[in-house]
Amino acid sequence: MNASRLGIVSAIAQEQRGLLDALEHSRRVRHGNREYTVGTLWGRDVVLVLCGIGKVAAAATTTSLIVEFGCTALLFTGVAGGLGEGVAVGDVVIADSLLQHDLDARPLYPRYEVPDTGKSRFTADAASTDALHTAAQTVFGAGCPPLIDPTTRHAFGLHAPRVHRGLIVSGDRFISTRADSEALRQSLPDALAVEMEGAAVAQVCHDYATPFALARTISDRADDTAHIDFGRFIHTVASVYSLALVQALLQPARTDRLTDPAATPGGR
Ligand code: ADE
Repeated sequence: MNASRLGIVSAIAQEQRGLLDALEHSRRVRHGNREYTVGTLWGRDVVLVLCGIGKVAAAATTTSLIVEFGCTALLFTGVAGGLGEGVAVGDVVIADSLLQHDLDARPLYPRYEVPDTGKSRFTADAASTDALHTAAQTVFGAGCPPLIDPTTRHAFGLHAPRVHRGLIVSGDRFISTRADSEALRQSLPDALAVEMEGAAVAQVCHDYATPFALARTISDRADDTAHIDFGRFIHTVASVYSLALVQALLQPARTDRLTDPAATPGGR
């Protein structure tokens, strides 16, 4: 088994296309109805996989990455709907913690709590998240990555993406009405973004004591135009942003747990 192997997960093909193109020495393995691509990215041993949409798909894929493919750390990149004030299309949100907004086992357990864990919020690995945050600031702090063409930049107003860090919420629903996003803001006022997989990845990584980090580019505002903005965004921007972010993270100079767990004293 590898000393350190990073599993990189996205939900849909457009989110990972750039990374797949950059992968070297790759071989494909079919397992549990998914295609895993094992290879190296900028010298790091990685496994790329599309988990599909939703929490069950994400949980099953995360388990396979850890148990079958020996991944010692996980990174999720993809898109999300913006919820927090000032979280705009084209911004990047790095998760400090994740929660399942559609989990409700009341009156047996408090709302959002994952039964028998005592937790509703699962925290991302702090060192990995710091590294991801730094990478995001490096890539996006100077404005929109140059790979995005001017027409697309203009269409989405992508001139100066902001990098946010905080709570991301997940559920098995695409949030596409203003009423639904308003309800989420009311019940979870500190939620910055909403998506459909992250909290499931976080729960499985918690079960297996595997460090993980998660970054989402905001594709829409989870409102009545969400489906239109989402479709356009993932085709033109999502893969470029994911590639730029992961490249900045995996540059050899970095020695945090996510990029090289073996390099950190006490790291896995
Ligand atoms: N992923 C991207 N946009 C989303 C939204 N509005 N709701 C849920 N998941 C999303």
